[in-house]
Amino acid sequence: MKNFYITTAIDYVNGSPHLGHAYEKVLTDVIARFRRMMGDRVHFLTGVDEHGQKIQQSARKSGKPPQQFVDEVSEEFREMCRKLNISNDDFIRTTEPRHKKVVRDILQKLYDAGEIYKAEYKGFYSTRQEQFLQEKDRNPDGTWPEIFGEVTEITESNYFFRLQKYQDWLISYLNENDSFVFPRYRQKQVLEFLSEPLNDLCISRPKERLEWGIPLPFDENFVTYVWFDALLNYYSAVVDKPGVWPADFHVIGKDILVPPHAVYWPIMLRAAGLPPPKALLAHGWWSINGAKMSKSTGNFVEPIQFANTYGADALRYFLIREMSVGQDSDFSQQQFLARYNAELANNLGNLVNRTLNMTNRFGGGVIPAAEAPQDAERELQALWNKTRDEAISLCEGFQFHIGLERTFAFITATNGYIEKRAPWKLGKSTVPEDQALLRLSLATMAEALRCGVSLLQAVMPETTQKIYGVLGHTPGAVWKEELVWGDRLSGKKVAETAILFPRPQTEKK
Ligand code: ME8
Ligand code: MG
Repeated sequence: MKNFYITTAIDYVNGSPHLGHAYEKVLTDVIARFRRMMGDRVHFLTGVDEHGQKIQQSARKSGKPPQQFVDEVSEEFREMCRKLNISNDDFIRTTEPRHKKVVRDILQKLYDAGEIYKAEYKGFYSTRQEQFLQEKDRNPDGTWPEIFGEVTEITESNYFFRLQKYQDWLISYLNENDSFVFPRYRQKQVLEFLSEPLNDLCISRPKERLEWGIPLPFDENFVTYVWFDALLNYYSAVVDKPGVWPADFHVIGKDILVPPHAVYWPIMLRAAGLPPPKALLAHGWWSINGAKMSKSTGNFVEPIQFANTYGADALRYFLIREMSVGQDSDFSQQQFLARYNAELANNLGNLVNRTLNMTNRFGGGVIPAAEAPQDAERELQALWNKTRDEAISLCEGFQFHIGLERTFAFITATNGYIEKRAPWKLGKSTVPEDQALLRLSLATMAEALRCGVSLLQAVMPETTQKIYGVLGHTPGAVWKEELVWGDRLSGKKVAETAILFPRPQTEKK
C-alpha cells in the first residue's frame, strides 16, 4: 500500500466559510476518496488558521476574547466539513498545543542553527493593512495607494529568516522537479518570482502590535508571523505519524501559491532539514454571478445553507463538474439549477427510476440473470469499458470535470439503450424471444446503472450508496472490481422507488 498524504489550506476563521472554502475541501475530498478507492493509504488533513492580525481584529470587532471567537468560528468550518461529507482524517487548529509545540521547536532549531537573526528594520508601514510596504507598492507618482491608509516610516527590531540563502537551491529544485506545481504553467510563475533577489523573511511581530500569535521561544516579546505559523500545520499534524511526511499534495488556491507555498514553505523545510512536499495543486477562483465574492455586496453563497437546500452531493457535483482544476469559474444559481435539473434529476434520476419501475413492473422486482448479449448490449458494454478507462486516467490527472462528463455521457447512452429496447413493449408480448430480450434488457440497464454510479462515488458518495441500496447491491471492498461489468445484480430485489434529486422546496434568488 502506498501512503498518500493530502492537505487543504487552513482557512482564516475571521469570518464564516464561503464557497471558495467549500470548493477546496470538496476538491481535496474527491482526490482523497479517489486515491483510497485506487488502493492508497490516504491521510487527509484540513483545518483552520487561527492566529494573526486579521483574526485579532475580527475578534475585537465582535467584542469577544480571541480564543472564544476562534472556538466559535472554527466550529462553523467543522460543521461545513460534516455537511459536505468531507472525509478528512484529521482537523488541525493552529491554537492547539500540538501545533504550537512544533512551531516553537522548529523556530528554536532554526535560531540555534543561525537561520534566524535579529535586525533593525526601517521601512514604510501601513497601520490600516498592518503591513510593511515596499517601493514597488507605490503608485507610479510616488504616493501610496488609498487602501494603505496612513503610511508612516518606522524603525522596528524584528527577527528574520534567511530565505535568500536558499534561493539558488530552490531554483534548481524546481528545475529538476518540473511537476512540482500543478497546473504546470504555474510553476513558471514561481520561477519568475525567483528571478528577482529574495528578501529575507520577517517572521516576528512585536507584541505591542500583535498579541494573538505564538510567542517566539527565544524572545517572548515577539509573536510568530502568521504565515510561518500556518504553513507548519502540514507538518505539526503528522509529526508523530511515522512515514506520512512529506505530503503528496498541498491543495491551495492560486492566490497563496507564490510566495507562501512555493517559496517560503520549501525553504523553511529545507532549513529545518526536512524534505519538501512532493507537489502543490493550485486551483482557481470562484466568482459569483460574474463578480468577486464579497460579503458586503451580498454576492455570497453560504455552503452549509446551500447543502441544506439542495443536498451535499448536488453541490459537490456542481463544483467539480463546473470547474476545470486550475482555472477560474463562475457560480450562478441559474447554471447550478440547469445542471441539477438536466444532469442529476432528469438524466441520472430518470435512469434510476426507470430501472426500478421496469424491474418492478416486468421482473417482479427482481433483477434477472443476464442472458447472452446482443449487439445493443455489446455496444453499451464496450462504451462502458472505454468510459471507465478514460475516466480513471482523467481523474489521475485531476481532470474530474471531463471524467464526470464522460460518465454522464454513458448514463445518457444507457437511457438511449432503454428507449431502443422499449421494455414496456416487450413486456406486453408473450413471444419467448421477446421475454428473453426483456430479461436481457432489465439485467443490462441495472448493470449499466450500477457500473456508471460506481464512477460517481468520489464525487457523490451519498448518491452512490443510495443507488446501490435501491438496486439491492452491497459493494465489495475493492473499488476497481465494482467497475467490471458482470452479473452481480442477478437475483437482487430492487426497491419500489428512489428519491434522489427532489425539486427544491425553496428557490433562492
Ligand atoms: O489564505 N474561490 O486563508 P483563506 C476559490 N489562512 N478558492 C478560494 C476563494 C474563491 N473565491 N477564496 C478563498 C488563507 N479561496 C490562509 C491559508 S495555508 C497554510 C494558510 C481559497 O481563508 C484560498 O485560495 O483566505 C485558500 O486556498 C483557501 O480558500 C483559504 O483562504
Ligand atoms: Mg484569503
